[in-house]
Amino acid sequence: MGNHPIGVFDSGVGGLSLLRELRSLLPYENFIYISDNAFTPYGALTPKNIRERSQTLTHWLCEQSCKLIVVACNTATTNAIELLRETNSIPFVGIEPAIKPAALQTKTGVVGVLATKGTLSSGLFHKTSSAFGLGVRILEKEGKDLVKMIESGMLQSEEMEQLLQSYTQPMIEEGADHLVLGCTHYPFLTPILTRILPQHIKIVDCNGAVAKQVERVLNNKELGCESQHFGNTTYFCTGGSQTMLQFVSPNDVIELSIQ
Ligand code: DGL
Repeated sequence: MGNHPIGVFDSGVGGLSLLRELRSLLPYENFIYISDNAFTPYGALTPKNIRERSQTLTHWLCEQSCKLIVVACNTATTNAIELLRETNSIPFVGIEPAIKPAALQTKTGVVGVLATKGTLSSGLFHKTSSAFGLGVRILEKEGKDLVKMIESGMLQSEEMEQLLQSYTQPMIEEGADHLVLGCTHYPFLTPILTRILPQHIKIVDCNGAVAKQVERVLNNKELGCESQHFGNTTYFCTGGSQTMLQFVSPNDVIELSIQ
């Protein structure tokens, strides 16, 4: 089991920001990454559809003998991880907006959260937000169109900068000193956000913490890879591979249909 791959999935390229941390912390592990871009953005799907896609991808990853699955998508985690754990026997690690560290560190008592509609409207997000956001004002903002624009290659564009300005300006005016990136696509926007936000605003994501959680689960369950050779990663897309190719070498990307 040790040398079996770790499955990682997202609605698109967003999960690659988490995969980057995973590969650097666990260099000997093998990974299979799926961008479910035929169905992106998940934020616009109904909770039922998000659960169906998550189950379908999980079944496919299990057929590839994955030993653990990382749900590298806040929207899929907050809507589907409970069901995935109930109905599959392998371990899952998910990602949720990093409200806890931001709430612990804020000096102004105001924290902004940028996430998809699917995440913000989920029960799990509200549970986390009320458990860890005690005494702190949480300003929620839907990052409407951000995933769609990143998936269509508009990461570096004037339009993107204007959209981010319009989403973050009201938070700044309300006194937020932390901005939680509640979607795995958004860390790719950090260079733009760093440029447009005032210096005192701290940008928070939890990719590093999730990678450490994966390491802990592998250790606890004795699932870690024993090989001393660097692991390999195979990338799959359910839609076209154009966006993925901006991040990964053409030889590594395979298009497939998982219906
Ligand atoms: N990367 C996904 C997330 O973390 C994007 C969801 C979407 O496709 O809308 O939420």
